[in-house]
Amino acid sequence: MYKIFETVDEVSRYTAQRLLDTILAKPEAVLGLATGGTMEPVYAQLVGMLEQSAVDLSRLTTFNLDEYIGLSASHAQSYRYYMGQHLFDRLSLPRESVHLPDGNAEDVDAACRAYSTAIQAAGGLDLQLLGIGSNGHIGFNEPHTDFSCRTHVIALSEQTRRDNGRFFSDQSEVPTHALTLGIQDILEAEEIMLVATGSKKAAIMAELYHGGVDEALPASALKQHHNVTIVMDSQAAALLPRQEEGGAA
Ligand code: GLP
Repeated sequence: MYKIFETVDEVSRYTAQRLLDTILAKPEAVLGLATGGTMEPVYAQLVGMLEQSAVDLSRLTTFNLDEYIGLSASHAQSYRYYMGQHLFDRLSLPRESVHLPDGNAEDVDAACRAYSTAIQAAGGLDLQLLGIGSNGHIGFNEPHTDFSCRTHVIALSEQTRRDNGRFFSDQSEVPTHALTLGIQDILEAEEIMLVATGSKKAAIMAELYHGGVDEALPASALKQHHNVTIVMDSQAAALLPRQEEGGAA
């Protein structure tokens, strides 16, 4: 299903409301969370909604999608730091309920295996939130990642390093590798929401809309899932057929 709104604000409110509805319907829900510029206004909305509704978060569990390798947890661009800043430090969520892949693990392969296992042990993801890279990556699953992969180490593409370079003071500081939930883990979520905003996502969203399932476009794996909502603003949806606007497909 495609949901297209005019503004980023509307996209963010809709997405945050869906997250809140999931928590209200199932206080022990397991949420898969994403990072990136797209999610900043989503989390700002969610924090506001949670403050107003005084929801009990004590039984909630979260698993983040990905993390850079080699950045300390206090590095301003680590995803652990990002999540603290935008969400976790602003909510009364038990710290032991929050999980991120450990980009500083001594044995990263063991850490990857343990991460996918921990998600399964928690009962699986009820809702997976996703952004999308300009090359179609989800999490950090770059083009041509095997769709059967579980949590794994990935070498970041030059396009992704360039895109994410805007968050670092110098391009050379952008890590070369990351840990990411695999496509298989993502597809096992009960429900998936992919959010795309801004004109830089227009080309890839049109490719995703028109194309088939293809490992060259990681987000196309979502076409195999039965419960996916793709939420866009008018800029990200600019190259989609007009009849999709405001409606479902
Ligand atoms: C990053 C993250 C992804 C995110 C995507 C889009 O590299 N690993 O999880 O969805 O790229 O980021 P942004 O929202 O900043 O465009």
